[in-house]
Amino acid sequence: MTDLFTNPHRYGDLADWRREAVALHAQGPIHRIEQPGYQPFLAVIGHDAVLDIERRPDDFTNGPEPVLGTDEAIAMRKAQGAEIRTLIHMDAPDHGKYRRLTNDWFKPASVRKMNDRLEHLSREAVAKLEALGGAADFYRDIAASYPLQVILAILGLPETDYARMNKLTQELFGAEDPDLQRDVISPEQMVEVIMDFYAYFAALTVDRQTTPTDDLASLIANGIIDDVAMPDLEKMGYYVIVATAGHDTTAAAMSGGLRALAEYPDQLHLLQANPELIPNAVDEMIRWTAPVRHFMRTAHVDAEIAGYPIKAGEWLYLSYLAGNMDPNVFEDPLRFDVARTNADRHIAFGFGQHFCLGAQLARMELRSLFAHIVPRFKTLELAGTPTTAKTTFVGGHKSVPIRYTLNA
Ligand code: HEM
Repeated sequence: MTDLFTNPHRYGDLADWRREAVALHAQGPIHRIEQPGYQPFLAVIGHDAVLDIERRPDDFTNGPEPVLGTDEAIAMRKAQGAEIRTLIHMDAPDHGKYRRLTNDWFKPASVRKMNDRLEHLSREAVAKLEALGGAADFYRDIAASYPLQVILAILGLPETDYARMNKLTQELFGAEDPDLQRDVISPEQMVEVIMDFYAYFAALTVDRQTTPTDDLASLIANGIIDDVAMPDLEKMGYYVIVATAGHDTTAAAMSGGLRALAEYPDQLHLLQANPELIPNAVDEMIRWTAPVRHFMRTAHVDAEIAGYPIKAGEWLYLSYLAGNMDPNVFEDPLRFDVARTNADRHIAFGFGQHFCLGAQLARMELRSLFAHIVPRFKTLELAGTPTTAKTTFVGGHKSVPIRYTLNA
C-alpha cells in the first residue's frame, strides 16, 4: 500500500513522487489508502475524477475535516478547541455568503490595481540578483519574500508586520515538517499561536472599523453577513486564510518554476526566444509544482466517480499534484514543457465553488517576476541540491541554490 499521500517525506522528493503518481494512474483514478494512524480514505488522482467531485459540493463537502490529519492530531485539536473557520472549512449555505464578500476584490479587473506593486517587487528581485553577483538562494533571497509583500499590500499592513505574517504561515502550515521543528508544535502551543494572532487581528479590526480604507482588511473588518456583522471566529478565519493561502503557495510555485528552468536550460532558452510564452510557462510551473498537495472531501451520498463506487461517509483526498500528472490529460506529464498547449488545464487551483480565490493574483505575480528575470539570465544552473518541505499539505522548496550570470 503506497505511503505517497500520507508520508510527508515522500513529498520531499517531488521527482520521485511524480514518477510514482504516473505509475499509479495506470492502475486507476481512485485508490483506497489504509495507513496506520489514519482513517482509511480514497486518494482521487484522476484529473477528471477530481473535477467530477468538485462539481458536486453538496454531495462531497469540505466539512468536517478539509485537511488530512492523523486520528490523534484530529482528536487532540478537537479536545483543545483550537478552532479555526475559514472559507475552506465552509460548505453551503455559509460558504457562498462569505466568499461573496471578497469575490469581487479578487477579480482580474480589481487585482490589476496591484500591477504597480508587482512591477516594483519584480524590479527589486532583478536588482537583488544583480547585487548578489552570481550566487543566490532563489527561495530565500527572492521567492519567499515576494508573495508575502503582496499579501501585506492587499491587507493594507505595514512592511514592519512582515516577520509576524511569516510566522503565522510557518506555524500553521509548517508544523508537520520535521525540518521546521520549532518550539511551537504541541496542540497547547498551537492554541497559543492562534490566540496571539487573534489578538493582532482584533486590533486590526478595531482600527479598520474606526478608519476604513480600500484595503482587504477593511472589507473583512466591516463585513456584513445575513445583515449582521460577521462573527469574530469567521472574521479571524478570513484574515488567516488571506494571510496564509497566498504566501507559501505562490513562493513554492516561483521557486519550483525557477528550479525547473535551471534544470531544463532548453526551456529557459525557448522562453527567452519567445517571451510571449511567459503566461503559458507560468501555468506549466503551477502544474509542475502544485504547491497545495491536497484538500479532503467527505461523501454524503453513495456515488460512482470514474467507475469507482464511493460510499456515503467516505473521506476523499483530492490529489491536485497527481491530477496534474494524469497522462490521460497531459501528454508525457513528466516533461516540463513551457510550450505545453494545455498547461492551463492543470488543477493546482482546484475547481468549482472553492476554486482558489487568489488564482489571478498568483498568476500575475509569477508572470511579472518571470517576465523581468527570464531575459536577464545569460547562464543559470543549480549550485547545489535544493532542499524541500516535507509536508502533505502546502509546500515546496526551502532552498534553491543557483549560480548565474546576467545579461547587461
Ligand atoms: C500558486 C499559488 C496558489 C495555489 C497553487 C493555490 C491553490 C489553492 C487551492 C488548491 C485551493 C482550494 C481549491 C478547491 O478546493 O477547489 C485554494 C483556495 C484558496 N486560495 Fe489559493 N492558491 C494559490 C495562491 C493564492 C493566493 C495568492 C491567494 C490570495 C491571497 C489565495 C487564496 C485562496 C483562498 C482564500 C482560498 C479558499 C477559497 C474557498 O474555499 O472558497 N490563494 N487555493
